[in-house]
Amino acid sequence: MNPTILIVDDEQHVLNSINRTLRRDYNIILSLDGKSALQILREQEVSAILADQRMPGLTGSEFFHEAIKIQPDTTRVLITGYADIEAVIQSVNDGKIFYYVEKPWEPEDLKLVMTRAVERYQLIKHNKELLHKLEIANQQLSSENIVLKRDVEQNYNFSNIIGESKAMQDVYDLMRKVIPTDTTVYISGETGTGKELIARAIHFNGPRKEKIFAAQNCAALPDTLLESALFGHKKGSFTDATSDKRGLFEVANGGTVFLDELSDTSPALQQRLLRVIQEGEFQPVGSNNTANVDVRILSATNRDLLKLVQQGKFREDLYYRINVFPIHVPLLKDRMDDIPLLADYFLNKYMLQAGKEINGFSGDALKYLLSINYPGNVRELENIIQRAVILAGNEQTLSINHLQTEWEASKPMITLQTNLQSDIEKSTLPKLVEEFEIKYITQVLESNHGNISKTAKDLGLSRAGLYKKLKRYKIN
Ligand SMILES: Nc1ncnc2c1ncn2[C@@H]1O[C@H](COP(=O)(O)OP(=O)(O)OP(=O)(O)O)[C@@H](O)[C@H]1O
Ligand SMILES: [Mg+2]
Repeated sequence: MNPTILIVDDEQHVLNSINRTLRRDYNIILSLDGKSALQILREQEVSAILADQRMPGLTGSEFFHEAIKIQPDTTRVLITGYADIEAVIQSVNDGKIFYYVEKPWEPEDLKLVMTRAVERYQLIKHNKELLHKLEIANQQLSSENIVLKRDVEQNYNFSNIIGESKAMQDVYDLMRKVIPTDTTVYISGETGTGKELIARAIHFNGPRKEKIFAAQNCAALPDTLLESALFGHKKGSFTDATSDKRGLFEVANGGTVFLDELSDTSPALQQRLLRVIQEGEFQPVGSNNTANVDVRILSATNRDLLKLVQQGKFREDLYYRINVFPIHVPLLKDRMDDIPLLADYFLNKYMLQAGKEINGFSGDALKYLLSINYPGNVRELENIIQRAVILAGNEQTLSINHLQTEWEASKPMITLQTNLQSDIEKSTLPKLVEEFEIKYITQVLESNHGNISKTAKDLGLSRAGLYKKLKRYKIN
């Protein structure tokens, strides 16, 4: 649709003449006085107004003065009868006119002025739209930033690693020393001990914290995909490579790459990692171009890397490049005094998530948490508490019943009667273990009234495994 121009003049023949000049290119509205013209402005969008200065009732500049309040962006053009400079000045000031046309005008001049007037309006409109989009994008961005920041502050802040035990203090000391540097850090420790949490804390408290922290679980992807995830690929370099892709090393340039489960990598990938760590260089899959990057490398495994080196399953040179600054995260069992703190922390976390109010742990519940084994370490404790919060009713106190799984509840509670100190003095380790096994198996067997399947399950053995031991120790 053509842009709309409103023409206001008290003389019908002037209106007609302007209409003839402009109607081919515009949608024209004619008005004989300022008052009805204002009404039109209230009702429809107008790109430009062309109004005569000398009119009975409202003058041109008085009319514009009001028109601004209705459609401020419309381009205002004044028609003056003679070189009425004062009226023009007044209109510029009061009516904020952009152009003026002197009577008599050449049709081509009028056309040109109106073309500019309409263009100006369209530009303003377009700008406003862009600005609006930009504002929305900005709002989104800043809210995302806030989320990200909060995420960073909440999850990766040093203070969100819970634990005051000596074992954890030692970890913090190492972290504090290595955080301000660019040193490659290798984090070892069993599953669920908090290796990733520590890796994030190292990045988000260090000099690269404003840059990207890119984590890759090396065990999660088959070789080709892992290579392309880390180093990127050129379009067509393998079947699914339908476009160029940037790898994590490139994305995280200036920041940190966290190689999780690093032990699960092929020799070819280890070779590539060695190069990027040694030279800061790599080639995207299927590309002949070498890229340079500056990334800090953190890595973690829950396996014994040195042993893998000795078995020839992990490159020795890479091992030494990775293992510049080792941090070992202790088992939860070796920092039992952190359990109450951790339990409280997770209770709060999941209470908030569930929108429940829970009155802490009963004495027995805490004792229970301190008595059990945690093969899954902190993650396991976290899971137990998460489950308990789901089970518990609002305003309840968490009891053993909430913490135990059914299977654990049916397990016989057994306390072994061994006088370890005197046993140790007169025995060797294999002998001790053997005695312990005999005593323990016998007790569990008795408490299960000789039920083999149940005993095997309670002991964490297969039926065949249990039979073997019964036979070896001659237990009936
Ligand atoms: N000291 C701690 N304080 C608070 N939360 C912890 C702590 N240690 C671990 N967690 C929590 O326990 C869970 C497991 O931690 P994380 O993923 O860091 O372990 P991981 O050592 O990387 O385990 P895996 O070897 O299985 O990958 C996470 O939810 C983490 O937030
Ligand atoms: Mg992990």
